[in-house]
Parts: sequence; structure tokens; C-alpha cells
Amino acid sequence: MTTDHHATSARQVPGIAVIGCGRISRSHLAAVASQPELAMLVATVDTDRALAERAKDSYQARFALDDIDAALAHPDVDAVVLCLPNHLHAPIAIKAARAGKHVLVEKPMADNAREALAMAEAADAHRVVLAVAQCRRHFRAIQYLADHHAEFGALISAQVSLGVYWSDAQAAWWREADKASGLVVALNGPHVLDFVQMVMRDDPLRVHAEAVRRNDFWAGEDEAMMLLAYPGRRIASVHLSFNQRPVENRKVLVYEHGTVVIEHDTQLSFNGQVLVRQGDDERRHYLDEAIEFERQFREFALAIAGKPNRSVMAAEGIRLMHTLDAVHRAFGSGQPVTLAGAAPATATLDAVP
Ligand SMILES: NC(=O)c1ccc[n+]([C@@H]2O[C@H](COP(=O)([O-])OP(=O)(O)OC[C@H]3O[C@@H](n4cnc5c(N)ncnc54)[C@H](O)[C@@H]3O)[C@@H](O)[C@H]2O)c1
Repeated sequence: MTTDHHATSARQVPGIAVIGCGRISRSHLAAVASQPELAMLVATVDTDRALAERAKDSYQARFALDDIDAALAHPDVDAVVLCLPNHLHAPIAIKAARAGKHVLVEKPMADNAREALAMAEAADAHRVVLAVAQCRRHFRAIQYLADHHAEFGALISAQVSLGVYWSDAQAAWWREADKASGLVVALNGPHVLDFVQMVMRDDPLRVHAEAVRRNDFWAGEDEAMMLLAYPGRRIASVHLSFNQRPVENRKVLVYEHGTVVIEHDTQLSFNGQVLVRQGDDERRHYLDEAIEFERQFREFALAIAGKPNRSVMAAEGIRLMHTLDAVHRAFGSGQPVTLAGAAPATATLDAVP
């Protein structure tokens, strides 16, 4: 993919618009604002004008806007960070790509693989970078595992739990099934299934899933369990909860030579010996200017510059969306879903509004 974007070349660093100034935006805004050698924060954008203004003032952006089209038309905006509700990821990413802007889109990349493919097609057609903000890839323990997994031998199984507690919807769109379909699967599924995809280095052959809703204040499922079978007789289990106190974020990986345990994505041990400890800079909540988002943004800037980087690019995002589609189909039907040999979903640019 060519990444030498014409507008960027006039300036030293790309100009960034952060679109959506809600809960997760602060970590992205801080990541851009704290790295002026990589990028310039040009615009903050939200239909809620007060949020856009507040973000502009807090992070010294050049201007605040309440209209995405105005941001996409602005010549000083070379790239956008999309922190929008899930159902807007695909249409706005496609619009941004068509306007010649590079895109870093929050997880989930899209609502389904068909949309994700259409996003990638638009990015390719307009020669812009399309990366997915799988922030947990940028935690040190996860990066360590990505770099050192071969030392542990072959992976046999993965057991992953991410349980949090919400006493109510944290954003209004969480209440609506069409905006946050499969709720806990749509919101936290991308974190854990991206991790499983990373360690398995493969796509699942078969997916079993059960998901239920315990709370009435949203329409989607808030508790889910999945079993996934991978080539080479490897298996993974995933538990997701929005009902769990205290928070659990645990990964247990059985390798040929022993067991890796990762707690909260920040501490990694192998056979009981701690190999990665949480750093003092890693104690901030992920919504609170988290250091991992700085790393994530640096990788995106490298991708824009056409340099080697650790961004999660569209191709990997599409694979994850195929797995998420299978999970949705499995818990929706009560039947296991077989993926091996399944024809890839196809899409055209016009398939997505
Ligand atoms: N990486 C993570 O750990 C993490 C954590 C939280 C959220 N997220 C993801 O980030 C995204 C945003 O989630 P959030 O919790 O910040 O949601 P949020 O509702 O707090 O923020 C979304 C913002 O988008 C704005 N918005 C909606 N429609 C708009 C439009 N058409 N034009 C401009 N602005 C518009 C809203 O006014 C709101 O301020 C979601 O996709 C979510 O999955 C990721």
C-alpha cells in the first residue's frame, strides 16, 4: 500500500482530527498531543459541540468542529482517529478514506466482516492507511509475548477471561441492539479474540458460543462464553462478562514447555516466574490517558510514514471480524459454526451506506 500521502508532504508531521470526543477519546487525544514530533492535533470533532470544545481546550487542538464532513474536507487534516459508536465505524471510515484521510478506527473495526472488507477496499482505492485500535496489543506484556512466544514452544491451548462490572450502560448507544449488537461480544469480544488470533497465528476452524442477557437496561447480551478450535489440535476458551466484580483480566496459555499467565495485560509469568512486571507508567486506567495509546499512536504514525510498525492493519482486522461474525452466528443459532473452507464474504463499496 502506498502511504506517501500528498497533503502530509507539505508539512513535517501529519495533521490529526480526533472524531468522537466521548469516553475513550482522552487516551487518543493525549497520545496525539504528547507526541508533537509525530503529529499535530488539528481538530476535535463531536456532534456535541461542548465536548469538542472541551477536548480542543484540554489538548490544545487548533479548532473544534461539530460536523464530520467539515473535518474531512479540511486540507490540514491528513488522518482521523475514529472514537465513534460502533455502528458509525464503517460508514465514517469509508468516507474518510474517500476524502484521502488515513484512518485509525477504534475496535470493533466494524459491525461485521462485510463492512470491514468495504472499509479496506476504500482505503486501498484511495491509498490511505487503515489501522484498527486494538490497544491491548500495545501493552508491554502482550508485546513481550508477541516477541518471545517461540521460546515457550508450541501453543496447545489458551484460556482467556475478561470480566468487568457495569451497573448501567456507560453510553446511551450501549442500550440499542443495532448500535452495539451482542453488547459484551461487540465491546470486549474484539479485545480478547484479537489476542487469541495473535497467539494462535491462525483463524478458528470451529466456534461454539453461548451468550445471555441478565440486565434490562440494555438490549444486548452481557455474559458470554466461547470455545474455539484451531488447526493443529489447539483450542481456546473465552469468557466475557459485564457482571463480574472484582474485574478479572486473565490469560492462561499452555505451551509445550510450560504455562504463561498474563494478568491485566501488564504482568506476564512463565511457570510461576515473573518475566514482565507492570511498570509505573502502566497503572493508569485505559480511559485515562493510558500510556499504551501513546505506543499505539506512534505505530499508526509509522504506518502513515510507510515505516515498519506494529499497527493492527485492515487485513488482520477483517480476519477478526470473520471470527466475530461466527461467534454472533453461533450464539444466535445455538449451533457451532464451522469456518474451514467457508467462502470469504464479499463486498463492494456501495454495499455500505
Ligand atoms: N480501546 C478500548 O479499550 C475502548 C474503550 C472504550 C470504548 N472503545 C471504543 O471506542 C468507541 C467509542 O466509545 P466511547 O465509549 O468513547 O463512546 P462515547 O459514546 O462515550 O463517545 C462517542 C462520541 O461520539 C460522538 N458522536 C456520535 N455520533 C457522532 C457523529 N455523527 N459525529 C460526531 N460525533 C459523534 C458522541 O457525541 C460521543 O461523544 C467505541 O467503538 C468503543 O467500542 C474502546
